[in-house]
Amino acid sequence: MIRFVFLVSIFIVGLFGINLKSFFTYTFDSGKTYDMQKAKDLYFQKKCQTCHGDTGERKISGKALKDMKPEDIKSSLINFTLEGGNSVNMAVHSRNLSHAEIDEIIAYIKGEDFAVELQVKDLLEEEPPQKTKHGIFIK
Ligand code: HEC
Repeated sequence: MIRFVFLVSIFIVGLFGINLKSFFTYTFDSGKTYDMQKAKDLYFQKKCQTCHGDTGERKISGKALKDMKPEDIKSSLINFTLEGGNSVNMAVHSRNLSHAEIDEIIAYIKGEDFAVELQVKDLLEEEPPQKTKHGIFIK
C-alpha cells in the first residue's frame, strides 16, 4: 500500500510538473503587475525608509534590503511577525503587513519585474551549462 502511494505521488508530480521548490521557499506570482507608485507610498507610509533608506540601500546589520533576495525579504518579514521577539524594531513595523503588502514592498525594493526575473533565474538554474571534460563551458 505504501509503495502504491509512493508511486502515485511520483506519477502526480511528473504529470503536473509540481514545482517542489515552491514547498520550501516563498514563490511569487509572476503574472501580477504592481502599481509602483502605490508600492512606494506603502514603503514610506510604513516608515521603512527611516531605518532602511529611501530605496532600501542602507546597510543594517551588514545587509541592505536591496541586496537581499525577494524570498529572503519575505521570509524575514513573516518571521519578524510570527516570532516578534528577535527584533523589537522590525516586529513593530512588520506586524500589520499582509502578504500582498509584503509583495508590494518587495516590488518597490527589487523592481516591478522581480517575480519574472526570479522565474527566469529558476529556469536557467534547472539546466546547468554543459561542461567538457576539461571543465570548459560550452555556450
Ligand atoms: C525603527 C527602524 C526600522 C524600521 C522602521 C524598519 N526596520 Fe527593518 N530592520 C531594522 C533593523 C534594526 C533590522 C535588523 C534586525 C535584526 O537583525 O535584529 C531590520 C531588518 C529587516 C529585514 C531583514 C534583514 C536581514 O538582515 O535579514 C527586513 C526584510 C526588513 N527589516 C524590512 C523592513 C520593512 C519592509 C520595513 C517597513 C515595513 C522595515 N524593515 C522597517 C530596523 C527597521
